[in-house]
Amino acid sequence: MKTNKLLTGVAAASALVLTLAGCSGDRTGGGGDGDTEGAIVGVSMPTQTSERWIADGDNVEAELEELGYQVDLQYANDDIPTQLSQIENMISGGAEALIIAAIDGTALTEVLEQAAAQEIPVISYDRLILGSENVDYYTTFDNFEVGVQQATSLVTGLGLLDENGEETGETGPFNVELFAGSPDDNNATFFWDGAMSVLEPYMESGVITVPSGQTEFEQAAILRWEASRAQARMDDLLTIIGGTKLDGVLSPYDGLSIGIISALTAGGYSASDLPIVTGQDAEEGSIKSIIAGEQYSTIFKDTRLLGAQAVEMVDAVLNDEEPEVNDTETYDNGERVVPSYLLESQIVTADNYVEVLIDSGYYDEGTFE
Ligand code: BGC
Repeated sequence: MKTNKLLTGVAAASALVLTLAGCSGDRTGGGGDGDTEGAIVGVSMPTQTSERWIADGDNVEAELEELGYQVDLQYANDDIPTQLSQIENMISGGAEALIIAAIDGTALTEVLEQAAAQEIPVISYDRLILGSENVDYYTTFDNFEVGVQQATSLVTGLGLLDENGEETGETGPFNVELFAGSPDDNNATFFWDGAMSVLEPYMESGVITVPSGQTEFEQAAILRWEASRAQARMDDLLTIIGGTKLDGVLSPYDGLSIGIISALTAGGYSASDLPIVTGQDAEEGSIKSIIAGEQYSTIFKDTRLLGAQAVEMVDAVLNDEEPEVNDTETYDNGERVVPSYLLESQIVTADNYVEVLIDSGYYDEGTFE
């Protein structure tokens, strides 16, 4: 992704969000009335090992700067103590608002008490912060629906559904192994529950079988979303299931899919007979893999829209206005139901990646040539 394209996209995405939210009318906006000009916003992101979080950080920073804010953007290397101390430094450094994508959703209670003591509003970014009343708003994608889309693409790839989403009458049985995300990330259970809502009926009727028998979230979960752990688990699964040939693997994130495909290839699958492997985030490496016919699908979550939405929320709160939300029921963090703005995601395969990712300007033309 190139920056110039990204920024154009950000502006377009922002305009879209403003239009969709219908809230551009009577707001003065950040920087507009001078009150928030130069205010510092702390942006805490989990890791730079995944492209999506780099894009998220860049988008949020660019959008905030556009409105006249100063930005303290930090990445925490997927290390919880690092994220805590970065947030503490943001607070002591004078941040007037925080946008946080948590590594471990349960680990921020104390540091957010410090933020609350200084009346610093907190926007939970993409991943819900759990166990704290000091979370003002949340913006994310419809995470249950992401899981539904992952499993829908899996069963479509297996041939159980046609391109219109109609049952084909195929009865399999298909051998499928299941992976889930990091158990400390609230999103992971939403993805899993969404996926299982599609897969369970097929599992109950015997159309899909899980040869390892590992069908519980706890068995399938991959701590910290680490590709190497997914690869190691896939290796173990291949040993457990012996010569049974796999038809599909539910993978909740592109990074894991790459690890899973490496294990499958090392285990004897050739590029042309790999099982249907899903993913999430439309990362460059996985789109290349999809084009090469290895990974089957991914889920595109437009981080430009998410970044714009988070910035909208910060700007509204700092201007004493109510941010637009579209869900006030789903995201209970154990202390409160956090008012949320949910965005929509999209299934991407070799058939539609040009339209979804290139024509929308998310990736530059030529990226995959
Ligand atoms: C995000 C996903 C991402 C995963 C791993 C989740 O919280 O919602 O988009 O694939 O973290 O980074």
